[in-house]
Amino acid sequence: MMKTDFKTIDFYKDQLIFIDQVKLPLVEEYISTDNYERIAEAIEKLEIRGAPAIGIAAAYALALSMKNVKDNFTPIFEKAYQRLHSTRPTAVNLFWALEQMRSAFLSSCSKPDNIYLVLLQRAKEIHLDDINKCKEIGRHGLSIFNKRSVVLTHCNAGQLATGGSGTALSVIKQAYEHGFVEYVFADETRPLFQGSRLTAFELEKANIPFAINTDSMSGFLMQQKKIDLVVTGADRIAVNGDTANKIGTYNLAVLCKYHNIPFYIAAPTSTIDKNCLSGKSIKIEFRDKNEVIQFNGTAITKNSYEVYSPAFDVTPAELISGIITEIGLFKPSFDFSNV
Ligand code: MRU
Repeated sequence: MMKTDFKTIDFYKDQLIFIDQVKLPLVEEYISTDNYERIAEAIEKLEIRGAPAIGIAAAYALALSMKNVKDNFTPIFEKAYQRLHSTRPTAVNLFWALEQMRSAFLSSCSKPDNIYLVLLQRAKEIHLDDINKCKEIGRHGLSIFNKRSVVLTHCNAGQLATGGSGTALSVIKQAYEHGFVEYVFADETRPLFQGSRLTAFELEKANIPFAINTDSMSGFLMQQKKIDLVVTGADRIAVNGDTANKIGTYNLAVLCKYHNIPFYIAAPTSTIDKNCLSGKSIKIEFRDKNEVIQFNGTAITKNSYEVYSPAFDVTPAELISGIITEIGLFKPSFDFSNV
């Protein structure tokens, strides 16, 4: 596997250490904290982002919320749980990880002296599990290539978005190592530039040749027959295969249909929400208008203008060629009953 010289999330000497994704790629700076509230803020501000990474950070945060607690465990745990639960609504991995931590908490209540260590152990397992899942997603993703290909991706579904090597980017990285990827187009991904900042940063580190394109260029690229396939990550997958991912993903899937280009999703099975029968019940996060009308604090248009800013959209299952998970490639019609 390719070695990278940065870490998205690490836990060392009772501190969570994470790279500040707001500042990348121009500044590589790490934030270190043992305060769950600071981790909740980091998730809200997208210093930590990407569905699996949010879940992992929240798991460590819940463990840290118990670090110096000597009594009154349940209300303190619940307060931290609710705070983390309220940070971002769309990525189901957050809620999945919080539930895992609640189970660990309930099972450790009989031995209160150990609660912090039990929770920390569970958070580390969730983290390690994601590292392994990312590798397996990349491996299963090899099956979608039948020739050396030019791939387009949207947002950042890489190392920065997970505990391991990524989902969509793990597929791209492993396929590149096997000679299946010739070139990558990285959608800029407005409004917060996860593509031009974060995916570009990772592709550069991995020495994979790439270009950044603005989101509105993808149709033209496809019309010119420059794209062989599209692969993106996911924030929540409904039981019928409808998939929520970064705003703009749906546009790509529609364009792929028109141009007869395969459109794939890569995600761990923890992104499949068994409580969500279709995309209609996926809650979409709306973000602050300043993310659209400002760049790095500088106004790019008038503050008085109305802004509409959903952070995610839902791609209907019928537009998805396959969903790559750590247990294999699911093809339409998607049957997740064994997950
Ligand atoms: O708002 P973000 O940057 O957290 O959105 C991230 C995405 O949409 C990713 O594609 C998704 O979380 C998958 S990450 C493996």
